[in-house]
Amino acid sequence: AEDGYRLWQRYDLIQNKDLLKQYRKALEDVTVQGSSPTLTVVKDELQMGLSGLLGFKVTVSDKATKRGLVAGTPETSSLIKEMGLEQKLNEVGQEGFLLLSQKHKGKDYTVIAANSEKGVMYGTFHLLKLLQTQQSLKDLNVSNSPKTKLRILNHWDNLDRTVERGYAGFSIWDWHKLPDYIDHRYIDYARANASIGINGTVLTNVNANSLVLTPEYLKKVKALADVFRPYGIKVYLTARFSSPIELGKLKTADPLNPEVKAWWKNKVNEIYTYIPDFGGFTVKANSEGQPGPQNYNRSHADGANMMAEVLAPKGGIVMWRAFVYDNNVPDDRHKQAYTEFKPLDGTFQGNVMVQVKNGAIDFQPREPFHPLFGAMPKTPLMMEFQITQEYLGQGTHLAYLAPMFKETLESDTYAKGNGSTVAKVVDGSLNNHAISGMAGVANIGNDINWTSHPFGQANWYAFGRLAWDHALTSEDIADEWIKMTFSNSPAQVAPIKKMMMGSREAVVNYMTPMGLHHLMGWSHHYGPGPWIKDKPRADWTSVYYHRADEKGIGFDRTKTGSNALSQYAPEVQALWGNPTTCPEEVLLWFHHVAWDAKTKSGRTLWDELCYRYSGGVDSVRTMQKTWNALEGQVDKERHQQVKQYLAIQEKDARWWRDACLLYFQTFSKRPIPQELEKPQ
Ligand code: GCU
Repeated sequence: AEDGYRLWQRYDLIQNKDLLKQYRKALEDVTVQGSSPTLTVVKDELQMGLSGLLGFKVTVSDKATKRGLVAGTPETSSLIKEMGLEQKLNEVGQEGFLLLSQKHKGKDYTVIAANSEKGVMYGTFHLLKLLQTQQSLKDLNVSNSPKTKLRILNHWDNLDRTVERGYAGFSIWDWHKLPDYIDHRYIDYARANASIGINGTVLTNVNANSLVLTPEYLKKVKALADVFRPYGIKVYLTARFSSPIELGKLKTADPLNPEVKAWWKNKVNEIYTYIPDFGGFTVKANSEGQPGPQNYNRSHADGANMMAEVLAPKGGIVMWRAFVYDNNVPDDRHKQAYTEFKPLDGTFQGNVMVQVKNGAIDFQPREPFHPLFGAMPKTPLMMEFQITQEYLGQGTHLAYLAPMFKETLESDTYAKGNGSTVAKVVDGSLNNHAISGMAGVANIGNDINWTSHPFGQANWYAFGRLAWDHALTSEDIADEWIKMTFSNSPAQVAPIKKMMMGSREAVVNYMTPMGLHHLMGWSHHYGPGPWIKDKPRADWTSVYYHRADEKGIGFDRTKTGSNALSQYAPEVQALWGNPTTCPEEVLLWFHHVAWDAKTKSGRTLWDELCYRYSGGVDSVRTMQKTWNALEGQVDKERHQQVKQYLAIQEKDARWWRDACLLYFQTFSKRPIPQELEKPQ
């Protein structure tokens, strides 16, 4: 059990003898001068990490030694000050760090230097990673800083400890025992997040409960904030828009009402008496039945700005979600966020970020990028990814999500011509925004291994790494995660990486190939349900999205259909608007295509769909074979768990394939190609 609990922070003795020798020599003495909560984190982690990795009891000294490792800022460390690194430090900003092999007064040092203690902490985790992944410490010249400012986990955790779309047990926030009992898990949570650069956490569900804003709960929130602070992690809460009514007994929550504003002002001031560095609010308003400013005929900007104004003097921000839709709006759901938010560009306060999901519908296995990216140049747009696999097999399917995150980040919006990628919108560089951010809906629960699936840990890890640096490749992230989590041996790294790299595409194939989307079962979102209709709202059905009929299948979002395509830049429209140039990966997202239309493989659309669904199942079987061959190389417990989960995944993949093909066949009236396995 312990093997899964430690995540990627496994500090076991280095097996490579030569490297071990090199490390022991380079890190013989460890100096961290100064004392503060964050420097204590640094010292503790170095002591624990190095002792484990190097195999002797490492002590961290606060006296400048004549060799070895030295970590600090020019303010905390006389040694680092003497080294004269100012110029280099100017380049890494407040959170970045340098990791250098440095000669000083004729002696050799390994140096972790930063402008802030937080930077020193990030550098410390980086050094430990170099050891865990068995990199040389010779001639180090690392200069590293984050591309995105706010790197935040969104917990959809309720106060009763259920987790909306959580598949790894209950919430890790033990509200009942807080604030008096500090579960050690909170500390390990902070360590894990700090090690990948996460610097904020929204503790509560976007479908918010105003209770968390009462003094009773704020005391508990404060206790968590106090644990996380030394790790550089700020706490945020979700704010239910109608709280002034529920808690303040006001008659309205109208954002322009002076009493409402006064209520929020008092509430915010109260929060800051508990948590002086409180981060701010995430708000889901006027979406899926949640209250919001539109209840009072006010706009999203009116609502967001009212909160932003009271938070601004305290340094807090508002992350206002753009995930809005409403079945009273008869238009394609794909279009609604853009329709509502685009006209508001330029009207938000400086401390508001609009938080946009990666795609326009809802975290499907594949979605084209959300049309708001690139469309609101005057507003900092925050990315919202979903780490928890609501629509990708939840807690039991192996799906490595870095390739999915990267696909969105690398998409070109053409907002300012060629190369205006979503990543540049999100990191603020395209439009020179002062704030920037990425949020990931967490997959963390109180399961011993945190994420249910041992490979779910890789998605938490990958999110953090990409929020820090979106230019990293999925492959490099997988590589370091595998080495830290399983083994450095190429005989394990190579096959595990191969499994991971193909896994998300496998899910796309057995669930929703070629741009199909929203085919899942009602409400639970786990298994197939392409036949779902007659629900309270059309956009909660599946038939609304796939539009299969005798002629063909797919959602026409071109001019002849909903014209959602018009929300993208002309270059994107030109590419996706024409079924012959539209990438097959998103073909049926934008076009209704005839069953007999020819696809790139030369097969008809119907046959191609059959091939993709079958291919998805085959990919899972290949993963099973790969994993079985690793028996005895991976510890028994994790091997067994993954093996059993892969068996579930194989069964589910067949379930998806068979359900979807047999259902679509009632429209296509064409046979499954002979050479393919028959649906059962
Ligand atoms: C999805 C999910 C909901 C969640 C919503 C949101 O629709 O199924 O549980 O509340 O997204 O992001 O607000």
